[in-house]
Amino acid sequence: MRIEIRIGAIQEVEADAVVVNLLEGVTTPGGATAAVDRALEGRISRVLAAGDFRGRLGETMVLYTDGRIPAPRVILVGLGPEASFNAEKVRHAAAAAAQRARELKVRQLATVVHGAGRGGLSPEEAAQATVEGTLLGLYTYHRKKENADRQGPEALLLVEFDATKEAAIAAGARRGEILARFVNRVRDWVNEPASDMTPRRLAEEVSGLAHEVGIRAQILDERQIAALGMGALTAVSRGSEEPPRFIILEYAPEGRLERPVVLVGKGITFDSGGLNLKSEEGMLTMKGDMAGAAAVLGATLAAAALQLPGPVVALAPACENMPSGKAYKPGDILRALNGKTIEIVNTDAEGRLILADALAYAARYNPRAVIDVATLTGAAIIALGQDVAAALFSDHDELAAALLRAAEATGERLWRMPLWEDYLERIRSDVADVKNSGGRYGGLGTSAMFLKQFAPEGVPWAHLDIAPMDMAEKARGYVPKGGTGYGVRLLVRYLEDPKP
Ligand code: BES
Ligand code: MN
Ligand code: ZN
Repeated sequence: MRIEIRIGAIQEVEADAVVVNLLEGVTTPGGATAAVDRALEGRISRVLAAGDFRGRLGETMVLYTDGRIPAPRVILVGLGPEASFNAEKVRHAAAAAAQRARELKVRQLATVVHGAGRGGLSPEEAAQATVEGTLLGLYTYHRKKENADRQGPEALLLVEFDATKEAAIAAGARRGEILARFVNRVRDWVNEPASDMTPRRLAEEVSGLAHEVGIRAQILDERQIAALGMGALTAVSRGSEEPPRFIILEYAPEGRLERPVVLVGKGITFDSGGLNLKSEEGMLTMKGDMAGAAAVLGATLAAAALQLPGPVVALAPACENMPSGKAYKPGDILRALNGKTIEIVNTDAEGRLILADALAYAARYNPRAVIDVATLTGAAIIALGQDVAAALFSDHDELAAALLRAAEATGERLWRMPLWEDYLERIRSDVADVKNSGGRYGGLGTSAMFLKQFAPEGVPWAHLDIAPMDMAEKARGYVPKGGTGYGVRLLVRYLEDPKP
């Protein structure tokens, strides 16, 4: 979709549809909505007076303009109540309007910049959210022949009356477009079947994009991984015919790579559970078990495309977790890159193993902070609910607070959980430094405590368990069913102003 900015009155724009908005319960519209209402001789006011449009968030209504303005239709979209209005509501409303436009087979879609007027957002923020909501809301993944034309509008015109806002709107629109494109790419990676999205394929795609945005990508193969001493990643990948990859992205603005933020993501391209094989139901969505890797890689590429102050490193261990005659077994003892040994009690607790090696690898960058992202536990879904929030663990309050702020700003919800020492007791092993599962109870806390044993010492560290968020059970607002791209916008927001 092409995105353009037009300075002028929205009721004068030539397009197949124009979008205007309404806060919930407002009966006399203002701004652009009022201007369109006047041009339509009070048609919007009459709809409101009749009580046929309330302005609930994401509510839409199509009005035909009968030649009164150049555009044949107006799409009226609700922004919800004024009291709870924010950028998240803009994304939701923009998505609803764009989806309605797609149903109408609109080619040229013109819209106001939602929230810049009465909503009180800055023009930049409002434009970014309008573009994000539109591009994210129109995303689809399918391989259905008959749906090949479900592309949505070919152009989005952002229409603003006040010419002094043009530069801010252009900047916001550009940020929104870059972010949404990387989020949608991450959604594709997650949605792609596991037999296609192998570790090698993920590495290839990431290398290609790294080249495009001008950053360094380094891909370690199975021999290099083993030679480095990554005993955990080597063991997990051993049951599969597909070789593992260790993907490294380095965004070093002006060649500077000192004290980077290091992002680490779980890249299990398929999690069968290994010899502790999952059930039919449990295995069904496990192509998405590389969503953490996808998120950190996408965020780093986006950070580079946006030319954030940086530096940022992304580390993504990628492999399959499969059962076979070569597979690692319960009772095995592995040695991770930092020398610590791990007793395997369950081969389905594989994510923490590959992350152990990657977290240990992070130490060589002398990082200012390390943040890992992983679809780590079913327990996170039990605790917080499917599609509700991801779990945050951190040993550093300032880092945790910065991530919570980023979550609030982006609508990618996070909830902080405790890192009590009790959880470490549960993963003590008689034969190794730690074991890879503490059992059912407290499974969320013990998984985080396990990771902490491998994070570089003395470096602020945070862990995001995104198992509840990587694939949506059903579509909502600008988040489609399936791969969500969760984490990309959150991490980029954090990287704009990293703390500590
Ligand atoms: N990838 C799963 C966690 C998961 C479950 C993600 C459901 C998304 C949806 C992870 O590798 C796993 O299998 N975890 C086990 C750990 C247990 C064996 C200690 C779990 O949560 O059951
Ligand atoms: Mn597993
Ligand atoms: Zn897994």
